[in-house]
Amino acid sequence: MRTDIPGYRAATEAPSPPGAPPRRAQVLAFVASKGGCGATFLAVNLGHVLASRDTSGTKVLLIDLNLQLGEAAWLVRDSPPSHDMAEVARHIARLDASFLHASLQQVTPNFSILAAPENPAHALQVKVEHLDAILDLAVTQFDFILLDVNVPLDELKLRALDRSNHIFLVTQAMLPAVRNAHRLLAMFASLGYPRDKVQVVLNRYAKRQARGHDLGLDEMHHVLGEQPFFTVPNGFKEVAQAINLGEPLAQVDATSPVYHALCALAQSVQPLGVRHRASWLHRLWRRAAP
Ligand SMILES: Nc1ncnc2c1ncn2[C@@H]1O[C@H](COP(=O)(O)OP(=O)(O)O)[C@@H](O)[C@H]1O
Ligand SMILES: [Mg+2]
Repeated sequence: MRTDIPGYRAATEAPSPPGAPPRRAQVLAFVASKGGCGATFLAVNLGHVLASRDTSGTKVLLIDLNLQLGEAAWLVRDSPPSHDMAEVARHIARLDASFLHASLQQVTPNFSILAAPENPAHALQVKVEHLDAILDLAVTQFDFILLDVNVPLDELKLRALDRSNHIFLVTQAMLPAVRNAHRLLAMFASLGYPRDKVQVVLNRYAKRQARGHDLGLDEMHHVLGEQPFFTVPNGFKEVAQAINLGEPLAQVDATSPVYHALCALAQSVQPLGVRHRASWLHRLWRRAAP
């Protein structure tokens, strides 16, 4: 239990009850091929969708690995995070489930964020071993862990990608972003990541008439190869409004095509019903537990 940290508040969320099977989170990383492609927005809002779209208690944690100027928590809150990743790193010897939960920003009952430090200088305090310890524990506490990873990819971020089950490479259809996506895919291949570990998310995708000079899907496939693709449409007005209000897109405009795309993405990573089956197993386990 932490007691010496200013602003400490008790965990709002209890760790898994005794006898319950440990959760084993899927780790999903979001990497933008170029700053501004939308990785943070999509990761945060996918987290919110996954944690809110059914009633079976899917628990989601987003870890902001943009350690210097991370802003994930600001996308769904309008006040500074009271705890952050560097603080956890400084007290890593005391890391346990209570400490972890007390260090999170609670967005909704099932969606929390481990924020990046407000002070950019504190970013250097977070080392690979801290990330490992946090992930080792967090996978037992959550169903999904989303990692917001920006370029450049240093040792810590590469460890985050190594530990991810799936990588969403977020790009837009403009040449510099596509070129970077191509280079990152080559790097992922050289790291030995299987091809289906990485999915390209083409954000702000417009159909032919509205596309102007942006590349089309055929051209993107030509440049990037037969990677799995997922497209998210452009929704400048409602996305900007959600970000400026510090609210999830679902609360600002649940009719938005961008929101519908996020729901489809959520469905692809966790088809509805899967968690219900897990809940059923969970109940059985608890009944059998001494
Ligand atoms: N699907 C979208 N439609 C319209 N605007 C978007 C969309 N996705 C992201 N944006 C805009 O792009 C900007 C950059 O997004 P952000 O998530 O911060 O990028 P990154 O994390 O990749 O640097 C946001 O301020 C947002 O306004
Ligand atoms: Mg970002």
